[in-house]
Amino acid sequence: MSKLFVTLRSGEVREIYGTAGESLKQVILDAGIEEVHGLTNCGGCCSCGTCHVVLDDASASRIPQPGECELDLLEIVQDRRPTSRLACQVRFGDELNGARVIIGPER
Ligand code: FES
Repeated sequence: MSKLFVTLRSGEVREIYGTAGESLKQVILDAGIEEVHGLTNCGGCCSCGTCHVVLDDASASRIPQPGECELDLLEIVQDRRPTSRLACQVRFGDELNGARVIIGPER
């Protein structure tokens, strides 16, 4: 199990744990944080952008860079930052242990 610190839209920070192999989105949802869900949620097939999160710089540099589909969709998310990712496209693993994740603005 690896630990994450998730900042909610309210500013509250939650410490959660996840199992390697799940998507980052699933780890966040399994912890009871529903903010990565939106009404247009695509179920994790990289077509809605409601799972936008921002990673801390160090964590973002330890994981594979976004693929073409993710990059295309990141073009339309609100308040995109250099370390913005779609949580459904990030595979959770030990390299994200201790990561700080900010939930993106609501779409
Ligand atoms: S859940 Fe739709 S792009 Fe991630």
